Amino acid sequence: MSVILAIESSCDETSVAICNNGKITANVIANQTIHQNYGGVIPELASRVHQQNIVPVIQQALIDAKVSKKDINAVAFTRGPGLLGSLLVGVSFAKSFALALNLPLISVNHMHAHILAHFIDDPKPTFPFLCLTVSGGHTQIVLVKDYFDMEIVGQSLDDAAGEAFDKTAKILNLPYPGGPLIDQHAKHGNPLAFKFPEPQIKNLDYSFSGLKTAILYFIRAQEKENPDFIAENLDDICASVQHSIVHILLNKLKKAAALYQIKDIAIAGGVSANTGLRTALAEKATELNWNVYIPAFEYCTDNAAMIAIAGHYKYINKEFVGQDIAPASRMEF
Ligand code: KG4
Ligand code: ZN
Repeated sequence: MSVILAIESSCDETSVAICNNGKITANVIANQTIHQNYGGVIPELASRVHQQNIVPVIQQALIDAKVSKKDINAVAFTRGPGLLGSLLVGVSFAKSFALALNLPLISVNHMHAHILAHFIDDPKPTFPFLCLTVSGGHTQIVLVKDYFDMEIVGQSLDDAAGEAFDKTAKILNLPYPGGPLIDQHAKHGNPLAFKFPEPQIKNLDYSFSGLKTAILYFIRAQEKENPDFIAENLDDICASVQHSIVHILLNKLKKAAALYQIKDIAIAGGVSANTGLRTALAEKATELNWNVYIPAFEYCTDNAAMIAIAGHYKYINKEFVGQDIAPASRMEF
């Protein structure tokens, strides 16, 4: 029996979850709206807001899970990768909490946790499977052999897929984070209205910086002819950009599936909330006879439930860390 309290603070969500014997009984997320008008997360502001949010979020999680501090058996936390100041708040809080209650500490890699979110609810994937992890900072195709035995077989050489969404949104004067807004507008647009070049990258790697530049030059050129181009074509632009990103993502995933002869395919990370990606993946499943695993919306973007489930599996292995642990903005996979 184990009750794990988990803390996630790697970017701009302060989240605390509780996992009772492998079952998530609380997952509280405080979003930071302060970054909306800056076109991206301002690290200094994010750390300050984590500092304000962490105690109320912990208290709410304990209430939701109907447990008290004395019921907790271990404290799991995101060690990295992420913004150092943001991570410091979660890691320091986890260490103090564990020290005060004499509890073991469990260090979790945020990117592993995105993938392990698939083990929160049924149906759970069987090993080995391939996971396309697409977030604001990472784009990776991961060969998942076991809970903590994972290998990156392809990744972005520059921008992440989430960045491609967010930077396009910025070009279109949409607030941060732009991914969900592009998704909304895309629902009403024509995905084939505008064509953008597909990067020619070898093997299973990705590149999204060229796409961003192509979009920027395209919009600038169109605006010279028609200053209202964005306003008049917003839905079509969003649908076309989303179509391009999804097409690029799935092409390499298809290659990876063929190369590794794997038909169990998962997606994870914030961009896996994208409607276009979810629909296209479901279509690929039918076409290629894949078993696809698409996480519930609440477990796509950053949340502590995924840290808690990772913590649960580490607790079973008694994989604890000492009080000398420090956050790592970059972390080995
Ligand atoms: O995993 P996540 O919450 O944070 C990181 O670890 O980075 O991912 C955030 C990213 C942002 O770039 C955001 O724009 C994108 O996920 N995102 C989406 C959608 N929801 C979140 N992108 C496209 N469509 C969405 N529906
Ligand atoms: Zn994330």
